[in-house]
Amino acid sequence: MKKVQIVIDQDFKVGEIDQRIYGSFIEHLGRAVYEGIYQPESPFADEQGFRKDTLELVKELQVPIVRYPGGNFVSGFCWEDSVGPKEERPSRVDLAWSVVETNQFGLNEFCDWTKKANSDVMMAVNLGTRGIADALNVLEYCNFKGGTKYSELRKQHGYEEPHKIRTWCLGNEMDGPWQTGHKSAEEYARLATETGKAMKAMDADIELVACGSSHSHMPTFGDWEATILEEGYDVIDYISMHQYYGNQENDSKSFLANSVDLDQFITNVVAICDYVKGKKHSDKTINISLDEWNVWYHSNEQDKLLEKWVQKPHQLEDIYNFEDALLVGSMLITILRHADRVKMACMAQLVNVIAPIMTSDTGAWRQTIFYPYLHAATMGKGTVLNTLVKSPTYTCEKFGEVPCVDCVVVDNDKENELVVFAVNKDMEEDITFSMDLRQFASYEIKEHIVMHHDDLKAVNTEANPDEVKPAQGTGAAIDGTSLNVVLPSLSWNVIRLAK
Ligand code: AHR
Repeated sequence: MKKVQIVIDQDFKVGEIDQRIYGSFIEHLGRAVYEGIYQPESPFADEQGFRKDTLELVKELQVPIVRYPGGNFVSGFCWEDSVGPKEERPSRVDLAWSVVETNQFGLNEFCDWTKKANSDVMMAVNLGTRGIADALNVLEYCNFKGGTKYSELRKQHGYEEPHKIRTWCLGNEMDGPWQTGHKSAEEYARLATETGKAMKAMDADIELVACGSSHSHMPTFGDWEATILEEGYDVIDYISMHQYYGNQENDSKSFLANSVDLDQFITNVVAICDYVKGKKHSDKTINISLDEWNVWYHSNEQDKLLEKWVQKPHQLEDIYNFEDALLVGSMLITILRHADRVKMACMAQLVNVIAPIMTSDTGAWRQTIFYPYLHAATMGKGTVLNTLVKSPTYTCEKFGEVPCVDCVVVDNDKENELVVFAVNKDMEEDITFSMDLRQFASYEIKEHIVMHHDDLKAVNTEANPDEVKPAQGTGAAIDGTSLNVVLPSLSWNVIRLAK
């Protein structure tokens, strides 16, 4: 049998995990807000119209932070339309998704919803059709204590206390020609820096995320990041990255190897951050907010047929299969392996729109990708160990020779747990996993969670929600000082060891 050997050392650490890498995203798009988290007419609705069944699944995921209100949507968003008495809120044309936005759910409802979900808010300001003044107005509305135009307006709207939103995104994907108000790197660098400066002058406790590249192969990649960082280094705290993958060619070997691309993308952005740091002789380190990542492609063709200017269409409703869950697992492992520099990340998105959770009028269920996200978010806590993976390889069209196994080990010293996340991408063979535990001599195997399905294209549906789900593995053993486990061909694995 093929073998993967893992080498760790308790003192060789990548970094502390910031729990916010398990964040997510709710955009005013399709049925994410309406019918996803908010549906007052539903039998599942609570007194505020929030769907209780969705909230339960979000709480199960322990999502620490949720980005809002977009996405492309934010580049045309007028926040003041979304607050105050609902009957007075206007409907508006949403150019990003060619729909009509009713504003029946808005900024204050989102803050209330995140409280119920035990999450924090990551709020984006509109730097597409708007600029400094509106960014300041929404910040004043959300965070200023009182006695000013917008803080008093918030109080009139029933929110005496400020929302105290700490994390703010300076626009969305401003490098993308599809973005309303798309800008050159120089234009965006000036606007983001001046907006950020003014926002921090109003509230020194906030942290700011500037737009990086919308994907790893954007034609402006590299120069974009360098230009933004050179201009705004002292104001900006994080640079964003966005990355989606698809299997349009039905080439699963290449598809599953996309974590190689994500790893390279993160490494490249870190290098650019540190290049600018070095050039400026700065003590400050800029970290990464990977605030949109996922698989996205299943819905591309069907979405071209959608009628325009309606409300809450079934847009971006990717139905995820088993191989998508494997890549999501590998992407999570890659994010963890960069825990020293990736400090926030948002699976895009959370409900109905390219999401781990789906809803209908009759219920809510977990897509295949829910499970690796759940396991990482709830068990991947503590310190990432520098995990050397001596893996057999396979060859694929897109990347050439790639490792069969992606793996990362997390040392959770608070819980006295060692947690291994691993994906076996080998199409034919099981692989024996072996790791020396000499420094963790008193640890025992608590569980081995395995997710495998014979059909890479298997999906979960409302009628059959448990087609793809994790199970307990058997056979994991510690022989002497060596942990030995079989990773089944094409599987997501979590091995938990405890003192
Ligand atoms: O998440 C869907 C869309 O993908 C977002 O609105 C945009 O930022 C990205 O292109």
